[in-house]
Amino acid sequence: MPFNIITGDITKVTADAIVNAANSSLLGGGGVDGAIHRAAGSGLLAECRTLGGCKTGEAKITGGYDLPSKHVIHTVGPVWQGGTNGERELLYSCYKSSLELAKQNGCESVAFPLISSGIYGYPKDKALQVAVSAIEEFLADNDMDVTLVLFSKSAFHIDGRLFEGINDYLGRNLAKPISPPKKHGLFGALRGKSAAPLGSVRQESNDEICEEAAQVFDMAAQPMEMKSCRAEPAQSLDDFLKSRDESFSQLLLRLIDESGMTDVQAYRKANIDRKLFSKIRSDVNYKPKKQTALAFAIALQLDLAQTQDLLAKAGYKLSDSLKGDLIVKYFILNGQYDIFVINQALFAFDQSLIGC
Ligand code: APR
Repeated sequence: MPFNIITGDITKVTADAIVNAANSSLLGGGGVDGAIHRAAGSGLLAECRTLGGCKTGEAKITGGYDLPSKHVIHTVGPVWQGGTNGERELLYSCYKSSLELAKQNGCESVAFPLISSGIYGYPKDKALQVAVSAIEEFLADNDMDVTLVLFSKSAFHIDGRLFEGINDYLGRNLAKPISPPKKHGLFGALRGKSAAPLGSVRQESNDEICEEAAQVFDMAAQPMEMKSCRAEPAQSLDDFLKSRDESFSQLLLRLIDESGMTDVQAYRKANIDRKLFSKIRSDVNYKPKKQTALAFAIALQLDLAQTQDLLAKAGYKLSDSLKGDLIVKYFILNGQYDIFVINQALFAFDQSLIGC
């Protein structure tokens, strides 16, 4: 997946390069710097000694030695001094210079810690936003797998109002899965003999859901204009007949063409890697994962009905009893189609990210 977020120890990550949050001497220290040097062994320090240090915001590359990764990219983050001394630009530059250096060295995968958010005191939520925006900008023009490795989930904060908004929406819309009727088969259930009377899960109308979400997003002062939730005008008969016979791959490629995006723009917006996209393009009967199909619905900015159509081509549907589905639905209803924002929300709620 071009952009992924995981929790764990970066010294255990297998990637072409892992990034070290170093200090300007490059001669080791505490935190992730200490962990990387310990895991890499003395060869790393010996090579670092030859580099002559590193300026804040810049990056230098060495071998990985005893680490599972081939390279270590050492970058020096800014010390947080309140945010008025160019810290954001310097931190942004750490990610950009590390990614450019990885690209120059032919790396196809890179793992980052949350630079400056430990000993250097950069507030973790601000550090996360800088990291995500720098990585997002790089991936808009480059094919690479970039993973953000958080030492602990506590390092992860999305915008508090957005978190509350989603939490509130889930609280009121997350359907309890209806347990299958005990004694009667489906037929019995249809005759109304099931333990859980059908319709026991409150199905809000589209308008009601939109109304709720609009209130939440107003509160969260998100710069989002409400996208109309009303069903799109009915398809023409010709479109309907055409779409009925299409496979997932055929429908997807047609929607990409109609969107005016190039294939590359579409798969990058969907957080899908180039190899997977070429599989989908070359196999008319390709069966994607649900996360992949959902990611393309977001990249294409489909509304709810169109999203369900695309998912149905792959045998899936959005379910109100699945937290991850409901979170994606929440963003679609609000016309928020930035997959990096959606994936941070999914991560915050311990759900699988979309893309692949
Ligand atoms: N794997 C992943 N992340 C880690 C690990 C690890 N093994 N160890 C620590 N982290 C996380 C921290 O929790 C923090 O969120 O890395 C982030 C960066 O923290 P620091 O390592 O303290 O780095 P930084 O804040 O950039 O300070 C750099 O600390 O280690 C010294 O020599 C280094 O002087 C430099 C300063």
